Amino acid sequence: MAQSNDRGTVVLLQITDLHLHAAPDSQMRGVTTQDTFLSVLDYSRKVPRWPPDAILVTGDIVQDGSQAGYKRFRETLQALNLPVLCVPGNHDDPVLMAGLLMSPPFQLCGEAKFGKWRILLLNTFQKENHAGALGFSGLTALVSSLKEFSDEHVLICMHHQPIPMGSAWLDRIGLQDAEPFLDIINRHNQVRGVVWGHVHQASDRDRNGVRFLSTPSTCSQFLPDSEFFTLDSRPPGLRWLALEPNGQITTEVNWVSSSNQI
Ligand SMILES: [Fe+2]
Repeated sequence: MAQSNDRGTVVLLQITDLHLHAAPDSQMRGVTTQDTFLSVLDYSRKVPRWPPDAILVTGDIVQDGSQAGYKRFRETLQALNLPVLCVPGNHDDPVLMAGLLMSPPFQLCGEAKFGKWRILLLNTFQKENHAGALGFSGLTALVSSLKEFSDEHVLICMHHQPIPMGSAWLDRIGLQDAEPFLDIINRHNQVRGVVWGHVHQASDRDRNGVRFLSTPSTCSQFLPDSEFFTLDSRPPGLRWLALEPNGQITTEVNWVSSSNQI
């Protein structure tokens, strides 16, 4: 699974928090999530950056734990003939994911090499807990990976946010072992970026020279800086990540409203 364009830039399309259901016409918070998922993909396929080297899916693929939801996701993305890199979210069923999303073009967790970049796909799922954690084994595996890939640029991908978003209700369900995670990032200077979903909003922060990025959902968004759960009126979104051979990350969020359909 190693590719990149002529300039050596690796392009990823990140989609996240699809919240699909068994029935394609099911709604969540007034949004038909299957329709917004498809509209985000349709939009992405019409912009000049298409095709990416891979599609990155950072969790909450299915809301209701249904096999039908995962199968529809698989059929839709399989048709694009691109690698699809997945991690589970708090609403996902990792057992169903392992059964349906472990063979090419799909990859569930682990690592992937694209050009001069190593993409680490971390599992932060905890059973019956909306917060995330890497746990001792996840943190240990991360250190081993970073030792192994010490001379490559590294992008870390996961579902839960490792830094506070500034929304009290969301920050109670972030990455519980963020402190040791951030210590590891501090000690390994080949880590260029960390990207996640879960928070249904866009953010872009620099922390000691590392890019920390959250990405909006393909369905409804959460209002930033809210103490309590509050929906935002922003439309479905997606993120493009251009990973340059010199380790720089160029990134852009696209919002897909009915008025900007291409
Ligand atoms: Fe989530």
